Amino acid sequence: MQYLMGLDIGTSGVKALLLSQNGEIITTATESYPLDTPKAGWAEQNPKDWWEAVVKVINKTINKDNINPADIAGLSLSGQMHSSVFLDENMEVIRPAILWSDTRTEKQCKEIENKAGGLENLIKKVSNPALEGFTAPKILWLKQNEPENYKKVNYVLMPKDYIRYKLTGKINTEVSDAAGTLLFDVKKKEWSKELAKLIDIDTNILPPVIESVEVGGKVNKSTSQISELKEGIPVVAGGADNACGAVGSGIIKEGRVMVSIGSSGVVLAQTNNATADSKGRIHLFNHAKPNSWYMMGVMLSAGVSFNWLKNSLFDQNMDYEELNKKAEAVAPGSEGLIFLPYLYGERTPHNDANARGVFFGISGRHKQGHFIRSVMEGVTFGLKDSLRLIKDQDVKIEEIRAIGGGVKSRVWQQILADIMGQNIKLLNVEEGPAYGAAIIAGVGVEIFNSFQKVSEKIIKVEEEITPIKENVKSYEKYYQIYKDLYPSLKTEYKKLSKLNY
Ligand code: XUL
Repeated sequence: MQYLMGLDIGTSGVKALLLSQNGEIITTATESYPLDTPKAGWAEQNPKDWWEAVVKVINKTINKDNINPADIAGLSLSGQMHSSVFLDENMEVIRPAILWSDTRTEKQCKEIENKAGGLENLIKKVSNPALEGFTAPKILWLKQNEPENYKKVNYVLMPKDYIRYKLTGKINTEVSDAAGTLLFDVKKKEWSKELAKLIDIDTNILPPVIESVEVGGKVNKSTSQISELKEGIPVVAGGADNACGAVGSGIIKEGRVMVSIGSSGVVLAQTNNATADSKGRIHLFNHAKPNSWYMMGVMLSAGVSFNWLKNSLFDQNMDYEELNKKAEAVAPGSEGLIFLPYLYGERTPHNDANARGVFFGISGRHKQGHFIRSVMEGVTFGLKDSLRLIKDQDVKIEEIRAIGGGVKSRVWQQILADIMGQNIKLLNVEEGPAYGAAIIAGVGVEIFNSFQKVSEKIIKVEEEITPIKENVKSYEKYYQIYKDLYPSLKTEYKKLSKLNY
Protein backbone atom coordinates (compact mmCIF):
# COMPACT_ATOMS: atom_id res chain seq x y z
CA MET A 1 0.00 0.00 0.00
CA GLN A 2 1.23 3.50 -0.83
CA TYR A 3 0.42 6.63 1.16
CA LEU A 4 0.22 10.36 0.58
CA MET A 5 0.76 13.01 3.19
CA GLY A 6 -0.92 16.42 3.36
CA LEU A 7 0.39 19.13 5.69
CA ASP A 8 -1.53 22.31 6.43
CA ILE A 9 0.37 25.20 8.02
CA GLY A 10 -2.61 26.94 9.63
CA THR A 11 -2.85 29.96 11.89
CA SER A 12 -3.44 28.07 15.12
CA GLY A 13 -1.40 24.99 14.29
CA VAL A 14 -0.26 22.47 11.74
CA LYS A 15 -2.28 19.44 10.70
CA ALA A 16 -0.94 16.34 8.99
CA LEU A 17 -3.11 13.81 7.23
CA LEU A 18 -2.18 10.48 5.75
CA LEU A 19 -4.24 9.19 2.84
CA SER A 20 -3.98 5.73 1.31
CA GLN A 21 -3.72 5.22 -2.43
CA ASN A 22 -7.39 4.11 -2.24
CA GLY A 23 -8.36 7.49 -0.86
CA GLU A 24 -8.94 6.26 2.67
CA ILE A 25 -7.93 8.57 5.53
CA ILE A 26 -5.48 6.60 7.66
CA THR A 27 -4.69 9.10 10.35
CA THR A 28 -4.39 12.78 11.25
CA ALA A 29 -2.30 14.65 13.80
CA THR A 30 -2.08 18.27 14.91
CA GLU A 31 0.38 20.48 16.76
CA SER A 32 -0.34 24.04 17.80
CA TYR A 33 1.87 27.10 18.04
CA PRO A 34 1.45 30.60 19.46
CA LEU A 35 0.34 33.78 17.70
CA ASP A 36 1.87 37.06 18.85
CA THR A 37 0.14 40.42 18.82
CA PRO A 38 2.96 42.85 19.70
CA LYS A 39 0.59 45.77 18.98
CA ALA A 40 -3.17 46.09 18.50
CA GLY A 41 -4.04 44.86 15.01
CA TRP A 42 -0.70 43.09 14.53
CA ALA A 43 -0.41 39.31 14.13
CA GLU A 44 2.95 37.57 13.91
CA GLN A 45 4.36 34.06 14.16
CA ASN A 46 7.79 32.59 14.33
CA PRO A 47 8.44 30.37 11.26
CA LYS A 48 10.73 28.23 13.42
CA ASP A 49 7.66 27.27 15.47
CA TRP A 50 5.94 26.06 12.28
CA TRP A 51 8.93 23.96 11.33
CA GLU A 52 9.27 22.36 14.77
CA ALA A 53 5.54 21.58 14.77
CA VAL A 54 5.76 20.16 11.23
CA VAL A 55 8.53 17.74 12.22
CA LYS A 56 6.47 16.64 15.25
CA VAL A 57 3.25 16.00 13.26
CA ILE A 58 5.11 14.13 10.54
CA ASN A 59 6.59 11.81 13.14
CA LYS A 60 3.33 11.45 15.06
CA THR A 61 1.44 10.53 11.89
CA ILE A 62 3.96 7.98 10.74
CA ASN A 63 4.46 6.40 14.17
CA LYS A 64 0.77 6.30 15.12
CA ASP A 65 -0.12 3.61 12.60
CA ASN A 66 3.29 2.05 12.18
CA ILE A 67 3.45 3.19 8.59
CA ASN A 68 6.58 2.17 6.75
CA PRO A 69 8.09 5.53 5.69
CA ALA A 70 9.25 3.88 2.46
CA ASP A 71 5.55 3.54 1.50
CA ILE A 72 5.00 7.32 1.46
CA ALA A 73 4.84 8.10 -2.23
CA GLY A 74 4.59 11.85 -1.93
CA LEU A 75 3.58 14.74 0.24
CA SER A 76 2.18 18.15 -0.37
CA LEU A 77 1.55 21.38 1.47
CA SER A 78 -1.25 23.78 2.22
CA GLY A 79 -1.02 26.91 4.30
CA GLN A 80 -2.39 30.21 5.50
CA MET A 81 -2.40 32.62 2.58
CA HIS A 82 -0.65 35.98 2.28
CA SER A 83 1.50 35.62 5.44
CA SER A 84 5.05 36.73 4.75
CA VAL A 85 8.32 35.09 5.71
CA PHE A 86 11.35 37.29 5.04
CA LEU A 87 14.61 35.41 4.44
CA ASP A 88 18.16 36.75 4.18
CA GLU A 89 20.94 35.57 1.86
CA ASN A 90 21.74 32.68 4.21
CA MET A 91 18.05 31.71 4.05
CA GLU A 92 17.64 32.66 7.70
CA VAL A 93 14.41 34.25 8.93
CA ILE A 94 14.96 38.01 9.35
CA ARG A 95 11.98 38.87 11.57
CA PRO A 96 8.74 37.17 12.66
CA ALA A 97 6.33 36.43 9.82
CA ILE A 98 3.58 39.03 9.36
CA LEU A 99 0.30 37.15 9.08
CA TRP A 100 -2.76 37.42 6.82
CA SER A 101 -4.85 38.66 9.76
CA ASP A 102 -2.48 41.56 10.51
CA THR A 103 -3.96 44.97 9.76
CA ARG A 104 -0.96 47.32 10.01
CA THR A 105 -0.78 48.18 6.30
CA GLU A 106 -3.68 50.59 5.66
CA LYS A 107 -1.29 53.31 4.46
CA GLN A 108 0.62 50.96 2.15
CA CYS A 109 -2.65 49.69 0.60
CA LYS A 110 -3.64 53.25 -0.33
CA GLU A 111 -0.19 53.87 -1.73
CA ILE A 112 -0.32 50.73 -3.91
CA GLU A 113 -3.75 51.68 -5.25
CA ASN A 114 -2.58 55.21 -6.08
CA LYS A 115 0.66 54.13 -7.71
CA ALA A 116 -1.20 51.55 -9.80
CA GLY A 117 -3.40 54.36 -11.15
CA GLY A 118 -6.50 53.66 -9.04
CA LEU A 119 -8.54 50.61 -8.10
CA GLU A 120 -9.66 49.63 -11.60
CA ASN A 121 -6.12 49.77 -12.97
CA LEU A 122 -4.81 47.76 -10.05
CA ILE A 123 -7.46 45.10 -10.68
CA LYS A 124 -6.53 45.01 -14.37
CA LYS A 125 -2.98 44.12 -13.37
CA VAL A 126 -3.47 41.64 -10.50
CA SER A 127 -7.24 40.91 -10.45
CA ASN A 128 -7.62 42.01 -6.82
CA PRO A 129 -7.69 45.18 -4.70
CA ALA A 130 -5.02 46.04 -2.12
CA LEU A 131 -6.19 44.54 1.16
CA GLU A 132 -4.33 44.89 4.44
CA GLY A 133 -3.80 41.16 4.79
CA PHE A 134 -2.16 40.65 1.38
CA THR A 135 1.60 40.26 0.91
CA ALA A 136 2.65 43.25 -1.22
CA PRO A 137 1.55 45.85 1.37
CA LYS A 138 3.50 43.89 4.01
CA ILE A 139 6.67 44.11 1.90
CA LEU A 140 6.17 47.85 1.53
CA TRP A 141 5.55 48.18 5.26
CA LEU A 142 8.87 46.47 5.94
CA LYS A 143 10.64 48.74 3.49
CA GLN A 144 9.21 51.86 5.08
CA ASN A 145 9.33 50.88 8.73
CA GLU A 146 12.25 48.49 9.09
CA PRO A 147 14.59 49.53 6.24
CA GLU A 148 17.53 47.71 7.85
CA ASN A 149 15.53 44.46 7.66
CA TYR A 150 14.27 45.18 4.15
CA LYS A 151 17.85 45.58 2.90
CA LYS A 152 18.58 42.04 4.05
CA VAL A 153 15.63 40.43 2.21
CA ASN A 154 16.72 37.82 -0.30
CA TYR A 155 13.33 36.08 -0.59
CA VAL A 156 9.80 36.55 0.65
CA LEU A 157 7.92 33.28 0.99
CA MET A 158 4.47 32.15 2.09
CA PRO A 159 4.33 29.78 5.11
CA LYS A 160 3.91 26.51 3.19
CA ASP A 161 6.68 27.52 0.76
CA TYR A 162 9.02 28.19 3.67
CA ILE A 163 8.22 24.71 4.97
CA ARG A 164 8.92 23.26 1.51
CA TYR A 165 12.29 25.04 1.61
CA LYS A 166 13.00 23.43 4.99
CA LEU A 167 11.92 19.99 3.73
CA THR A 168 13.72 20.09 0.39
CA GLY A 169 16.13 23.03 0.26
CA LYS A 170 14.26 24.28 -2.85
CA ILE A 171 12.76 27.72 -3.21
CA ASN A 172 9.47 28.10 -5.08
CA THR A 173 5.81 28.89 -4.74
CA GLU A 174 2.82 27.89 -6.84
CA VAL A 175 0.02 29.77 -8.55
CA SER A 176 -2.63 29.71 -5.81
CA ASP A 177 -0.41 31.27 -3.15
CA ALA A 178 1.30 33.60 -5.62
CA ALA A 179 -2.19 34.92 -6.43
CA GLY A 180 -2.65 36.14 -2.85
CA THR A 181 0.46 38.31 -2.87
CA LEU A 182 -1.08 41.07 -5.02
CA LEU A 183 2.05 40.90 -7.16
CA PHE A 184 0.83 38.12 -9.45
CA ASP A 185 -0.89 38.49 -12.77
CA VAL A 186 -3.63 35.99 -11.99
CA LYS A 187 -4.72 35.73 -15.64
CA LYS A 188 -1.30 35.27 -17.21
CA LYS A 189 0.08 33.26 -14.28
CA GLU A 190 3.29 35.26 -13.90
CA TRP A 191 4.63 37.93 -11.53
CA SER A 192 3.37 41.37 -12.48
CA LYS A 193 6.68 43.08 -13.17
CA GLU A 194 4.68 46.15 -14.08
CA LEU A 195 3.05 46.53 -10.67
CA ALA A 196 6.25 45.59 -8.83
CA LYS A 197 8.03 48.38 -10.71
CA LEU A 198 5.32 50.93 -9.97
CA ILE A 199 5.47 50.23 -6.24
CA ASP A 200 9.23 49.72 -6.28
CA ILE A 201 9.47 46.12 -5.14
CA ASP A 202 12.37 44.12 -6.54
CA THR A 203 10.96 41.03 -8.30
CA ASN A 204 14.16 39.11 -7.50
CA ILE A 205 12.88 38.58 -3.96
CA LEU A 206 9.84 36.69 -5.33
CA PRO A 207 10.24 32.91 -5.70
CA PRO A 208 9.81 31.04 -9.01
CA VAL A 209 6.18 30.00 -9.58
CA ILE A 210 5.14 26.47 -10.56
CA GLU A 211 1.75 24.73 -10.84
CA SER A 212 0.21 23.29 -7.66
CA VAL A 213 0.54 19.72 -8.96
CA GLU A 214 4.19 20.02 -9.93
CA VAL A 215 6.90 18.51 -7.78
CA GLY A 216 8.63 21.42 -6.04
CA GLY A 217 11.52 19.43 -4.54
CA LYS A 218 12.42 16.20 -2.78
CA VAL A 219 12.86 15.55 0.93
CA ASN A 220 16.53 16.28 1.64
CA LYS A 221 19.03 14.51 3.81
CA SER A 222 18.86 16.88 6.78
CA THR A 223 15.06 16.51 6.96
CA SER A 224 15.38 12.73 6.77
CA GLN A 225 17.81 12.88 9.68
CA ILE A 226 15.42 14.71 12.02
CA SER A 227 12.15 13.15 10.86
CA GLU A 228 10.71 9.81 9.86
CA LEU A 229 10.56 10.93 6.22
CA LYS A 230 12.83 9.16 3.78
CA GLU A 231 15.22 11.19 1.66
CA GLY A 232 13.97 11.68 -1.90
CA ILE A 233 10.19 11.69 -1.29
CA PRO A 234 8.65 14.10 -3.83
CA VAL A 235 7.15 17.23 -2.29
CA VAL A 236 4.37 18.41 -4.59
CA ALA A 237 3.84 22.19 -4.61
CA GLY A 238 0.32 22.15 -3.06
CA GLY A 239 -1.77 25.23 -2.57
CA ALA A 240 -3.23 28.04 -0.51
CA ASP A 241 -5.46 26.76 2.30
CA ASN A 242 -8.62 27.89 0.55
CA ALA A 243 -7.61 26.21 -2.73
CA CYS A 244 -6.75 23.00 -0.85
CA GLY A 245 -9.98 23.20 1.20
CA ALA A 246 -11.86 23.49 -2.10
CA VAL A 247 -10.06 20.45 -3.55
CA GLY A 248 -10.93 18.52 -0.38
CA SER A 249 -14.61 19.39 -0.89
CA GLY A 250 -14.67 18.49 -4.56
CA ILE A 251 -14.86 22.10 -5.77
CA ILE A 252 -12.91 21.34 -8.91
CA LYS A 253 -15.48 21.98 -11.61
CA GLU A 254 -17.70 24.86 -12.65
CA GLY A 255 -21.05 25.11 -10.92
CA ARG A 256 -19.77 23.88 -7.56
CA VAL A 257 -19.59 26.26 -4.63
CA MET A 258 -18.18 25.74 -1.17
CA VAL A 259 -19.65 27.56 1.81
CA SER A 260 -17.53 27.23 4.91
CA ILE A 261 -18.60 28.34 8.37
CA GLY A 262 -15.37 28.06 10.33
CA SER A 263 -13.85 30.85 12.46
CA SER A 264 -14.09 32.91 9.31
CA GLY A 265 -16.74 32.43 6.64
CA VAL A 266 -15.82 31.55 3.07
CA VAL A 267 -17.87 31.32 -0.11
CA LEU A 268 -15.77 29.91 -2.94
CA ALA A 269 -16.77 29.03 -6.50
CA GLN A 270 -14.58 27.36 -9.10
CA THR A 271 -14.48 29.13 -12.48
CA ASN A 272 -12.75 28.61 -15.80
CA ASN A 273 -12.96 32.30 -16.55
CA ALA A 274 -10.32 34.59 -15.07
CA THR A 275 -12.35 37.79 -15.24
CA ALA A 276 -12.17 39.76 -12.00
CA ASP A 277 -14.88 41.89 -10.41
CA SER A 278 -13.93 45.38 -11.65
CA LYS A 279 -14.80 46.80 -8.22
CA GLY A 280 -12.70 44.21 -6.39
CA ARG A 281 -15.46 43.22 -3.99
CA ILE A 282 -14.76 39.54 -4.47
CA HIS A 283 -11.33 37.87 -4.78
CA LEU A 284 -10.15 36.08 -7.91
CA PHE A 285 -7.31 33.64 -7.29
CA ASN A 286 -5.69 30.76 -9.23
CA HIS A 287 -6.93 27.33 -8.25
CA ALA A 288 -4.80 24.26 -7.54
CA LYS A 289 -6.35 22.50 -10.54
CA PRO A 290 -4.24 23.77 -13.45
CA ASN A 291 -5.74 26.52 -15.61
CA SER A 292 -8.69 27.15 -13.38
CA TRP A 293 -9.53 29.86 -10.89
CA TYR A 294 -11.86 30.53 -8.01
CA MET A 295 -13.88 33.49 -6.86
CA MET A 296 -14.02 33.88 -3.13
CA GLY A 297 -15.65 36.04 -0.51
CA VAL A 298 -14.16 36.00 3.01
CA MET A 299 -16.09 37.04 6.13
CA LEU A 300 -13.83 37.70 9.07
CA SER A 301 -16.18 36.68 11.91
CA ALA A 302 -18.46 33.73 11.21
CA GLY A 303 -17.84 31.11 13.92
CA VAL A 304 -15.99 33.88 15.72
CA SER A 305 -19.31 35.74 16.17
CA PHE A 306 -21.03 32.64 17.50
CA ASN A 307 -18.25 31.84 19.96
CA TRP A 308 -18.13 35.44 21.08
CA LEU A 309 -21.84 35.26 21.93
CA LYS A 310 -21.41 31.96 23.74
CA ASN A 311 -18.29 32.87 25.69
CA SER A 312 -18.61 36.59 26.29
CA LEU A 313 -22.34 37.17 26.60
CA PHE A 314 -23.62 33.80 27.79
CA ASP A 315 -22.31 31.16 30.09
CA GLN A 316 -19.12 29.66 28.63
CA ASN A 317 -20.21 26.29 29.95
CA MET A 318 -23.46 26.31 27.98
CA ASP A 319 -23.01 23.47 25.52
CA TYR A 320 -23.69 23.66 21.79
CA GLU A 321 -26.73 21.40 22.09
CA GLU A 322 -28.41 23.79 24.50
CA LEU A 323 -27.59 26.80 22.32
CA ASN A 324 -29.02 25.02 19.26
CA LYS A 325 -32.20 24.07 21.11
CA LYS A 326 -32.80 27.66 22.15
CA ALA A 327 -32.21 28.89 18.58
CA GLU A 328 -34.51 26.26 17.13
CA ALA A 329 -37.37 27.33 19.36
CA VAL A 330 -37.33 30.81 17.73
CA ALA A 331 -39.07 31.53 14.39
CA PRO A 332 -37.00 32.47 11.29
CA GLY A 333 -36.13 36.16 11.46
CA SER A 334 -35.67 36.01 15.25
CA GLU A 335 -38.81 38.14 15.68
CA GLY A 336 -37.21 41.19 14.16
CA LEU A 337 -33.72 40.90 15.62
CA ILE A 338 -30.98 41.34 12.99
CA PHE A 339 -27.28 40.84 13.68
CA LEU A 340 -24.45 42.43 11.68
CA PRO A 341 -21.41 40.14 12.08
CA TYR A 342 -18.64 42.73 11.75
CA LEU A 343 -16.95 42.23 15.14
CA TYR A 344 -13.45 42.85 13.76
CA GLY A 345 -14.36 44.87 10.66
CA GLU A 346 -15.28 43.08 7.46
CA ARG A 347 -13.54 41.96 4.29
CA THR A 348 -16.26 40.80 1.85
CA PRO A 349 -18.34 42.64 0.79
CA HIS A 350 -17.47 45.93 2.52
CA ASN A 351 -13.69 45.88 2.95
CA ASP A 352 -14.04 48.12 5.99
CA ALA A 353 -11.78 47.73 9.03
CA ASN A 354 -13.98 50.16 10.99
CA ALA A 355 -17.23 48.19 10.73
CA ARG A 356 -18.46 46.65 13.99
CA GLY A 357 -21.15 44.23 15.15
CA VAL A 358 -24.74 45.37 15.65
CA PHE A 359 -27.91 43.86 17.07
CA PHE A 360 -30.67 45.79 15.33
CA GLY A 361 -34.28 45.72 16.43
CA ILE A 362 -33.89 44.56 20.05
CA SER A 363 -37.22 44.55 21.84
CA GLY A 364 -38.36 43.52 25.29
CA ARG A 365 -39.61 40.23 23.83
CA HIS A 366 -36.16 39.00 22.90
CA LYS A 367 -34.55 36.28 24.95
CA GLN A 368 -31.32 34.29 24.65
CA GLY A 369 -32.70 32.08 21.85
CA HIS A 370 -33.39 35.14 19.69
CA PHE A 371 -29.84 36.37 20.06
CA ILE A 372 -28.38 32.95 19.23
CA ARG A 373 -30.57 32.53 16.17
CA SER A 374 -29.97 36.07 14.95
CA VAL A 375 -26.19 35.53 15.12
CA MET A 376 -26.58 32.40 12.97
CA GLU A 377 -28.83 34.32 10.59
CA GLY A 378 -26.61 37.42 10.44
CA VAL A 379 -23.53 35.33 9.61
CA THR A 380 -25.53 33.53 6.91
CA PHE A 381 -26.78 36.82 5.44
CA GLY A 382 -23.10 37.82 5.21
CA LEU A 383 -22.38 34.60 3.30
CA LYS A 384 -25.31 35.36 1.01
CA ASP A 385 -23.69 38.75 0.24
CA SER A 386 -20.63 36.88 -1.08
CA LEU A 387 -22.73 34.37 -3.02
CA ARG A 388 -24.64 37.21 -4.70
CA LEU A 389 -21.41 38.95 -5.68
CA ILE A 390 -20.15 35.72 -7.23
CA LYS A 391 -23.46 35.29 -9.09
CA ASP A 392 -23.14 38.87 -10.36
CA GLN A 393 -19.88 37.83 -12.07
CA ASP A 394 -21.84 35.27 -14.10
CA VAL A 395 -20.17 32.38 -12.34
CA LYS A 396 -22.38 29.27 -12.48
CA ILE A 397 -23.82 28.20 -9.15
CA GLU A 398 -25.43 24.80 -9.39
CA GLU A 399 -24.48 23.07 -6.20
CA ILE A 400 -23.61 24.38 -2.73
CA ARG A 401 -21.46 22.16 -0.51
CA ALA A 402 -21.28 23.27 3.11
CA ILE A 403 -18.43 22.55 5.51
CA GLY A 404 -17.06 23.83 8.83
CA GLY A 405 -18.02 23.79 12.50
CA GLY A 406 -21.16 25.90 11.94
CA VAL A 407 -22.83 23.31 9.74
CA LYS A 408 -22.56 20.67 12.44
CA SER A 409 -25.63 22.44 13.87
CA ARG A 410 -28.93 21.15 12.46
CA VAL A 411 -30.65 24.46 12.91
CA TRP A 412 -27.82 26.37 11.21
CA GLN A 413 -27.92 23.91 8.27
CA GLN A 414 -31.60 24.72 7.74
CA ILE A 415 -30.99 28.47 8.13
CA LEU A 416 -28.29 28.19 5.46
CA ALA A 417 -30.62 26.41 3.01
CA ASP A 418 -33.46 28.87 3.73
CA ILE A 419 -31.37 32.05 3.42
CA MET A 420 -29.53 30.84 0.28
CA GLY A 421 -32.85 29.59 -1.08
CA GLN A 422 -31.07 26.54 -2.44
CA ASN A 423 -30.33 22.93 -1.47
CA ILE A 424 -27.25 22.55 0.74
CA LYS A 425 -25.13 19.43 0.41
CA LEU A 426 -23.19 17.91 3.29
CA LEU A 427 -20.17 15.71 2.63
CA ASN A 428 -18.88 12.37 3.90
CA VAL A 429 -15.49 13.83 4.69
CA GLU A 430 -14.45 17.10 6.27
CA GLU A 431 -10.78 17.21 6.96
CA GLY A 432 -10.06 20.64 5.53
CA PRO A 433 -6.97 21.81 3.64
CA ALA A 434 -4.63 18.99 4.77
CA TYR A 435 -6.95 16.54 3.00
CA GLY A 436 -6.89 18.65 -0.17
CA ALA A 437 -3.09 18.81 0.04
CA ALA A 438 -2.88 15.00 0.25
CA ILE A 439 -5.12 14.74 -2.84
CA ILE A 440 -2.87 17.23 -4.67
CA ALA A 441 0.14 15.09 -3.68
CA GLY A 442 -1.64 12.09 -5.22
CA VAL A 443 -2.37 13.92 -8.48
CA GLY A 444 1.19 15.30 -8.51
CA VAL A 445 2.88 11.90 -8.19
CA GLU A 446 0.24 10.33 -10.47
CA ILE A 447 -1.22 7.91 -7.94
CA PHE A 448 -4.51 9.63 -8.78
CA ASN A 449 -5.34 10.16 -12.46
CA SER A 450 -7.10 13.48 -12.17
CA PHE A 451 -8.82 15.76 -9.66
CA GLN A 452 -12.11 14.91 -11.32
CA LYS A 453 -11.76 11.15 -10.98
CA VAL A 454 -10.38 11.05 -7.46
CA SER A 455 -12.92 13.49 -6.10
CA GLU A 456 -15.88 11.63 -7.62
CA LYS A 457 -14.52 8.47 -6.03
CA ILE A 458 -13.77 9.66 -2.50
CA ILE A 459 -15.78 12.84 -1.82
CA LYS A 460 -19.45 11.95 -1.55
CA VAL A 461 -22.57 13.95 -0.80
CA GLU A 462 -24.02 12.40 2.31
CA GLU A 463 -27.06 14.53 2.91
CA GLU A 464 -29.02 17.29 1.25
CA ILE A 465 -30.88 20.00 3.15
CA THR A 466 -33.84 21.44 1.25
CA PRO A 467 -35.07 24.98 1.84
CA ILE A 468 -38.51 25.48 3.41
CA LYS A 469 -40.55 27.71 1.11
CA GLU A 470 -42.17 30.01 3.64
CA ASN A 471 -38.85 30.52 5.44
CA VAL A 472 -37.17 31.48 2.15
CA LYS A 473 -39.82 34.15 1.60
CA SER A 474 -39.56 35.50 5.10
CA TYR A 475 -35.74 35.63 4.97
CA GLU A 476 -35.83 37.55 1.69
CA LYS A 477 -37.55 40.39 3.55
CA TYR A 478 -35.10 40.30 6.45
CA TYR A 479 -32.15 40.19 4.05
CA GLN A 480 -33.31 43.44 2.39
CA ILE A 481 -33.13 45.20 5.75
CA TYR A 482 -29.80 43.52 6.63
CA LYS A 483 -28.33 44.77 3.35
CA ASP A 484 -29.43 48.35 3.99
CA LEU A 485 -28.03 48.54 7.51
CA TYR A 486 -24.32 48.69 6.64
CA PRO A 487 -24.57 51.66 4.21
CA SER A 488 -26.63 53.58 6.73
CA LEU A 489 -23.98 53.05 9.42
CA LYS A 490 -20.80 53.48 7.37
CA THR A 491 -20.13 57.08 8.40
CA GLU A 492 -20.92 56.36 12.03
CA TYR A 493 -18.47 53.46 12.03
CA LYS A 494 -15.78 55.84 10.85
CA LYS A 495 -16.64 58.37 13.56
CA LEU A 496 -16.61 55.63 16.18
CA SER A 497 -13.18 54.50 15.10
CA LYS A 498 -11.82 58.00 15.75
CA LEU A 499 -12.76 57.83 19.45
CA ASN A 500 -9.66 56.34 20.97
CA TYR A 501 -11.49 53.90 23.22
C1 XUL B 1 -7.80 34.27 2.43
C2 XUL B 1 -7.37 34.54 3.82
C3 XUL B 1 -7.58 33.50 4.84
C4 XUL B 1 -6.31 32.78 5.12
C5 XUL B 1 -6.53 31.91 6.34
O1 XUL B 1 -7.71 35.35 1.60
O2 XUL B 1 -6.86 35.58 4.14
O3 XUL B 1 -8.58 32.60 4.48
O4 XUL B 1 -5.93 32.03 4.01
O5 XUL B 1 -5.52 31.03 6.52
